[in-house]
Amino acid sequence: MRILVTAGPTVEDIDDVRFISNRSSGKLGYAVAGKFAELGHEVTLVSGPVCLAPPGGVERVPVRSAEEMGEAVLERLADADVVVMAAAVADFRPAERRSGKIKKSDAGMVLELVKNMDILEEIGKRRSPDQTVAGFCLEAGGPDDPAARKAAMGKVAAKNLDAIVLNGPGNIGADSGRLVVLGSDGEELAAAEGPKEEMAEAIVKAVTGLHRERRRRR
Ligand code: CTP
Repeated sequence: MRILVTAGPTVEDIDDVRFISNRSSGKLGYAVAGKFAELGHEVTLVSGPVCLAPPGGVERVPVRSAEEMGEAVLERLADADVVVMAAAVADFRPAERRSGKIKKSDAGMVLELVKNMDILEEIGKRRSPDQTVAGFCLEAGGPDDPAARKAAMGKVAAKNLDAIVLNGPGNIGADSGRLVVLGSDGEELAAAEGPKEEMAEAIVKAVTGLHRERRRRR
């Protein structure tokens, strides 16, 4: 199978020195890409800036901003059987990117932000029914909270997804944690608790199984 994975944060520059971004180490997305490659799949990893080496056998496409990530992903979408959107894409970017370094003033400063494209929503619009698309969702209540599951299912419907990985904030930057993978009817496809490697394995197994099942039914 041809797999497209995104990972890491996006970085939205304010000037040549400052930026806004999201907290994301990229560890889980990288582990997911590595696990797919280990199983013999052809993997492209579109990655925001992270301090991780690319997993063996994975083609890495480095990007910085949400705009760059969107371009890289949408360009490659038609070639993918499975998409796993693990990146922590910044929802907003500065309205204007200034060159040089903005001088500070004692009066404080107001930064105008504009909305970035929702890449996953755009994938949901352009995808074919033969593809399997999985998104990520981070909810304060974590993977076992009914309200969090409801919010995750709202994203599945809004973004036309086949599965969603539901995380809690405790997983950010950590080497272990807990998550569940939910299917489009809210069914639990997988649950994992432990090191990121184990969580990645559960995601890969669930998404691969779901893709095979969906192809079989068509
Ligand atoms: N995503 C994206 N493009 C964006 C924002 C998010 O592709 N501009 C993707 C992420 O990669 C992830 C999913 O959408 O797969 C997360 O959806 P989002 O609505 O941003 O969820 P949360 O950040 O979990 O929740 P919210 O902002 O609604 O609190």
